[in-house]
Amino acid sequence: MVEKAHIPATSPAFIIDKQAIQQAADNLVYLRQQSGCRVLYSIKALPFVPLLKWLQPYVDGFSVSSLFEAKLAHSIVNSAQSIHLATPGIRQDEQIELNELCTHISFNSRNQKNVFSKNRSDVSKGLRVNPKLSFSKDERFDPCRLHSKLGLSIKDLILNDFNEIEGLQVHTVFSQQDLNPLIKTLDSIEAYLADFLPQLKWINLGGGYLLQEINDLKPLIELIVRLRKKYQIEIYIEPGKDIVNKAVSLVTTVIDCFESDGKVIAVLDSSINHNPEVFEFQRVPEVLEANENGEFSALLVGSTCLAGDIFGEYQFNQTVKVGDKISFINVGAYTLVKANRFNGYNFPDIYSVDKGELKCLKQYDFENYRQQWDD
Ligand SMILES: Cc1ncc(COP(=O)(O)O)c(C=O)c1O
Repeated sequence: MVEKAHIPATSPAFIIDKQAIQQAADNLVYLRQQSGCRVLYSIKALPFVPLLKWLQPYVDGFSVSSLFEAKLAHSIVNSAQSIHLATPGIRQDEQIELNELCTHISFNSRNQKNVFSKNRSDVSKGLRVNPKLSFSKDERFDPCRLHSKLGLSIKDLILNDFNEIEGLQVHTVFSQQDLNPLIKTLDSIEAYLADFLPQLKWINLGGGYLLQEINDLKPLIELIVRLRKKYQIEIYIEPGKDIVNKAVSLVTTVIDCFESDGKVIAVLDSSINHNPEVFEFQRVPEVLEANENGEFSALLVGSTCLAGDIFGEYQFNQTVKVGDKISFINVGAYTLVKANRFNGYNFPDIYSVDKGELKCLKQYDFENYRQQWDD
């Protein structure tokens, strides 16, 4: 987490705390040592190359969702590491390249499996299965929602589906802080697929768990150990948000302040386009400088023309003024990767902080913007 002393020279800026990344990696190494599972970083959360390089020694590979992600992961892994692909979006014309880049592919549908498994390749083929167990009240995040596009319903699987299949992939939750959904999911897999499990080589349990927030990993360790022993099977997990979210802050600067209908409006040199889930999913990012009992409130807004470009209303100990720093914390996952330059506002610079030392890793300039829109 960014501390007040870690204010970068430029603004807005994403700051990645290397020690927080190391802590997440250490937690996964512990889980891996205790349970014998294999750990992949799901790069969709933040595919920043320096981050992939820091994590590479601590993981068994990467989990990817597309050809581009597969190429990126492939440029980082060593020959002993794995690249697992799972997506509803495999394209015919990408098949050959994906087969070369990935070690494991989980097909999302019976049709995908039938079309793509005709190709001879060394890829270990799997099926994404959908246990149809919903753990989220909001169906936008629920892979098990009615008419889900994600995976074959576990109840509909037939013997034929397992021809040439060596593994299963399952992913059912988002930002979960307790392990019950995973336990229920595996109970269901064992109940429905007991006959098939002994013939498989691996199960990928997906991501979606904030493993660092779970006080006791013992039930997970016991579960993995039991499955490995019972079915002589490799177990993979592929967290994304768990690894990066807490490690990243977005530091912004107030560039204007005024009153509108009785409320203080603080315009930032950033926008919700640097954290689009604020708008898409009504997320309320935490602000380091805010205090919920503070006397002074301000609406923190972005610089774009969109009326709804609003981070939210926050309380502060002092009035917010031009030049103040506003730091959104715990914003590593699904922020920068979804960011855009709407209205021509640049992406934030990217810094690392390591034991108090700030280092600028990346800056985008007008040429990058022009390149995107040039013919
Ligand atoms: C198949 C799969 N694996 C892993 C992940 C990573 O999830 P998270 O970042 O919530 O850990 C996702 C996220 O959408 C996913 O769809």
